[in-house]
Amino acid sequence: MQGIKDKIRTIPDFPKPGILFRDITTLLLDPQGFRKTVDELVQIHMSSRIDKIAGIEARGFILGGAVAHQIGAGFLPIRKKGKLPHTTIAEDYDLEYGTDTVEIHADAVSPGDQILLIDDLVATGGTAAASIRLLERAGATVIGCSFVIDLPDLGGRARLEQMGQRVQTLCA
Ligand code: PRP
Ligand code: ADE
Repeated sequence: MQGIKDKIRTIPDFPKPGILFRDITTLLLDPQGFRKTVDELVQIHMSSRIDKIAGIEARGFILGGAVAHQIGAGFLPIRKKGKLPHTTIAEDYDLEYGTDTVEIHADAVSPGDQILLIDDLVATGGTAAASIRLLERAGATVIGCSFVIDLPDLGGRARLEQMGQRVQTLCA
């Protein structure tokens, strides 16, 4: 999706030397770019029932919140460790540049929920894989994972597909 890709900038050596950081703030600042991105994410899973959008902190909140609003689904925030106030369940994972933990509220999923996972980018797939494990432990079915950007050299998409996930990305 060339129009979207053109509006994303790459910052070398952030947050660590050697990382080419894909910065979507330029895409979000562009009214047509932001709308087109959300519209594309909405279109992808139009034929499936979606009860909730799960968005991964931080950039998955911006995109996932907009998609949830547009399709009339609930929004489930997947947060970094220590941010949620009620009883949580957690999963640790490795990142391209470190390690981290994601959490959801233990009561955030209702029995039989069909959930679409949204984030800005898949790199190693570690964050999304941990998020899927969390949602499945809570009783959800993850019907797909949608990202704006795929970094195919880091293998995340293939990793999620090996978990049986339907993965959609808008650009690489
Ligand atoms: C980025 C991105 C994804 C994750 C992808 O978030 O928004 O959530 O990395 O990497 P992975 O596929 O290797 O797991 P980041 O960890 O930078 O967190 P932030 O948005 O809270 O800064
Ligand atoms: N998360 C993991 N790798 C990333 C990258 N290269 N750019 C932006 N977010 C990332």
